[in-house]
Amino acid sequence: MKKLFTIALLALALPAQAITLDELYKIYSPSGEAAFSAERGKQLWFEDHLDEDGKVRNCTVCHGKDLTRAGEHIKTKKVIDPLAQSANSERFTELKQIEKWFKRNCKWTYGRECTDQEKGDLIKYLIQF
Ligand code: HEC
Repeated sequence: MKKLFTIALLALALPAQAITLDELYKIYSPSGEAAFSAERGKQLWFEDHLDEDGKVRNCTVCHGKDLTRAGEHIKTKKVIDPLAQSANSERFTELKQIEKWFKRNCKWTYGRECTDQEKGDLIKYLIQF
């Protein structure tokens, strides 16, 4: 038990490790990239959901329509750096960051967490920009 705790602490203390796209796909499926579809990712990205007040939520309400440009958080109005890797080379290179934001944003947008399949599909769509 104590040993596990130490490992968990170590993992937290280690500097963020850059991850390759192949490694990322393999985390979400043993078959890697072949398991995922950019078309399904695109559908998920634009899929509308209504919040409790009947307002539309989808991934673009904060990240905008053009992923190579900055977005704006719909609630806090804070600027969000472009999600496109072509505009921001750090995108999709840090697992902790990716997982943290998938968790928050899927919950906020869809009212639930995304599955590994959905995460892979979304990345395959988003990585094209
Ligand atoms: C309520 C606003 C909001 C919505 C809606 C939103 N996001 Fe985000 N997203 C953010 C913020 C804020 C960040 C973190 C700031 C940053 O990375 O510049 C972020 C970061 C991310 C990242 C991190 C990428 C990386 O490698 O740095 C991913 C992936 C992501 N969002 C995917 C999604 C997906 C998929 C959806 C739709 C299900 C979505 N977002 C909807 C606000 C939002």
